[in-house]
Amino acid sequence: MEPLRVGIAGLGTVGGGVLALLGEHGERLASIAGRRIEVVAVSARRRRKKRAAPIGQFEWHTDPLALARHPGVDVVLELIGGAEGVARKLCETALKNGKAVVTANKALLALHGTELARAAERAGKPLRFEAAVAGGIPIVKALREGLVGNRIEGVYGILNGTCNYILTEMRASRRDFAAVLAEAQAKGFAEADPSFDVDGIDAAHKLTILASLAFGCPVNFSAVHVEGIRQVSAIDIAHADEFNCRIKLLAIARMTERGLEQRVHPCLVPVNTAIAHVDGVINAVVAEGDYAGSTVFEGRGAGAGPTASAVAADLVDIAAGRHVYPFGVPTAKLKALRAAPMREHVSRYYIRLMVYDRPGVIAEVSAVLRDQRISIESLVQRGRAEAADRAVAVVLISHEVDEAAMRRAMERIGRLKSVVEPPCVIRIEQL
Ligand SMILES: NC(=O)c1ccc[n+]([C@@H]2O[C@H](COP(=O)([O-])OP(=O)(O)OC[C@H]3O[C@@H](n4cnc5c(N)ncnc54)[C@H](OP(=O)(O)O)[C@@H]3O)[C@@H](O)[C@H]2O)c1
Repeated sequence: MEPLRVGIAGLGTVGGGVLALLGEHGERLASIAGRRIEVVAVSARRRRKKRAAPIGQFEWHTDPLALARHPGVDVVLELIGGAEGVARKLCETALKNGKAVVTANKALLALHGTELARAAERAGKPLRFEAAVAGGIPIVKALREGLVGNRIEGVYGILNGTCNYILTEMRASRRDFAAVLAEAQAKGFAEADPSFDVDGIDAAHKLTILASLAFGCPVNFSAVHVEGIRQVSAIDIAHADEFNCRIKLLAIARMTERGLEQRVHPCLVPVNTAIAHVDGVINAVVAEGDYAGSTVFEGRGAGAGPTASAVAADLVDIAAGRHVYPFGVPTAKLKALRAAPMREHVSRYYIRLMVYDRPGVIAEVSAVLRDQRISIESLVQRGRAEAADRAVAVVLISHEVDEAAMRRAMERIGRLKSVVEPPCVIRIEQL
């Protein structure tokens, strides 16, 4: 059979990994796919830059769109990144020109995934994105195909390795967020501009894709409630330990009576759950199916090797002619779902207040909570402030209460004169 001819746009971490993998495992993949997967052309910004594997034997194009118009290319790998601009244009042009597309670009898919899937259907060509969510974990294929017999009730997990690394290190070294972030940046585990990761946006992009696959709905990034981990301090992590919990940034999509919940935020998770023990840069996803029950996937969510592994799986499927709809069903069958309003979300809460150590402070806080009908399961204050102008941490655990009442209470408590900084509120997740 004719080889599958590939054009790779983007030769950075992911693109370099793909080149290395295809070089090493090309023969084996050819025997599995029934034909060779052959890179014919590549594109990046700088031609002379050192790459993870030699590129001298491939056609070079400084303009990645040349790959989308190239008559000798069957599949375009979009491994550049960014929700707009050249990456989007490349995918659209490639599909329009009758080429299959494989991308690792979660930002693009979270914002334009449904339109791209529609363009792929019109072209009758595959659009694949296994590398876009949780790196080497084959969760896209698992939700789209492996668990297809189930009605999925929930899918959640740790989808951002940078945040998980920071939270793990904060616990291990008892240091605060800023110090650990600086170290993670120095080691290359966090970007120079870490906001996409630490503010929860990257995890939300991935959740949007998982939710579409799991619940058969169009991607809807604007429906995701997003919070990051900047507010989590070493004190919170130490207190979580005392409550037999760990703090994790979770991305959660769950069907509820109120509609589809999609949320990304730090959570206290009980230590007796699998997810509590997923540490460092590792990712994990749990899919809850009505027949399979709870299935846990764990592995490396980023880096050259894991992402190349995911891209290779997509290429083999395309080479073998195994075609599926990008989100499992035709786009016309994707059903928009009501978004469950976050203010109606019910949870137990961990609340940390930094307060001046003066008589009457607890009574003031309790009065606000009483007015909002929030009842408290426990309250902990250890030690005394060293001076009247120094604050102490008071930690409360609430019983179940809706988000709207909690927000009102926190807004009022934050205005009390004896409370020195905005309250830190973390939901306690019953998994
Ligand atoms: N890194 C990961 O672990 C990981 C994991 C999952 C998904 N992803 C996704 O995979 C994609 C690529 O990520 P990455 O980490 O591999 O990025 P990267 O290391 O920064 O590489 C990006 C590549 O794109 C090229 N490029 C940038 N702008 C271009 C343009 N206008 N025209 C042509 N080429 C251009 C760069 O060229 P030069 O090399 O010449 O500068 C570089 O080779 C992103 O969508 C990312 O979200 C990454």
